[in-house]
Amino acid sequence: MFRRHRRLRENQTIRSIVRETVLNAQDFIYPMFVVEGQNIKREIRSLPNNFHWSLDRIPELIEDVTAAGVKGIMIFGLPDHKDEVGHSAYDENGIVQRAIGVIKKLAPELWVITDVCMCEYTSHGHCGIIVDQRVDNDETLKYIAQTALSHVKAGADMVAPSDMMDGRVEAIRKILDENGYKDVGIMAYSAKYSSAFYGPFREAADSTPQFGDRKSYQMDPANIREAMLEIEDDINEGADIIMVKPALSYLDVIRWARDKFNHPVAAYSVSGEFAMVKAAASLGLIDEKAIALEMLTSIKRAGADIIITYYAMDAARWIKE
Ligand code: PBG
Repeated sequence: MFRRHRRLRENQTIRSIVRETVLNAQDFIYPMFVVEGQNIKREIRSLPNNFHWSLDRIPELIEDVTAAGVKGIMIFGLPDHKDEVGHSAYDENGIVQRAIGVIKKLAPELWVITDVCMCEYTSHGHCGIIVDQRVDNDETLKYIAQTALSHVKAGADMVAPSDMMDGRVEAIRKILDENGYKDVGIMAYSAKYSSAFYGPFREAADSTPQFGDRKSYQMDPANIREAMLEIEDDINEGADIIMVKPALSYLDVIRWARDKFNHPVAAYSVSGEFAMVKAAASLGLIDEKAIALEMLTSIKRAGADIIITYYAMDAARWIKE
């Protein structure tokens, strides 16, 4: 006798009753870009329907985020001034630091995470400090820790280091603890791959390296056991949430992370994943909404508890329809 699998697929009601993975608005974190200047809401060419926001226009965005039921955002900053050591990254009057203040005032409940990195702030576009033509790990740690501290002083709820230097979680934990911020958490970009999927973001954040590439600090896409070592170290150094990035081409890494560790797992569905869907949809080749929701569902099914996505508000609205 064969099994009648189709009994449980007959209609929408029974399908929803046996569904294993359900997306919620609170699964999503929205990445946003803040810029200096006034009255700026400029669409990012490489990320359709995402914008560069000046601080005076942010209320419009925050209203959209909260109305959609999205509980968290991640802030990226585009400073006016770049230099060798990325001064604007840890300036207490920097663009991100001021944005945190504005957002926390508008929506005190919204979970504000900041991306902690040097690449948007350095003239050379690398994620760290250059010594003898290479990104110096230990020198960079000092700057990353200062940057994280400046975000927390400005009111950030959580910091997310994305630089991929060794020892950065420990350095950040230490400086936060020493300054009385024992209860502020760290979401570590633990398994961050050296990926071509970041292309549209680098245009959005103006953070393309001016020489070389990021292969000496970001991971080789071919490796998964190494990702488990990265995650293990971040947890031992004090990470509260671990991240896998990108998401769609790395579902196996998300699954391993979920199975091997008990920390919450975040997955970053990056700019290239979003841009591919947008491009194909604009050509009429795919159904954008169906594809986006299928992608997000697959990322959650793979084991992600949190999904950082440029579709956050759209997806939150679509799943309510
Ligand atoms: C900064 C950073 C990058 C992304 C997030 N933080 C770019 C990079 O590492 O080159 C990529 C995000 C995306 O592609 O959506 N280090």
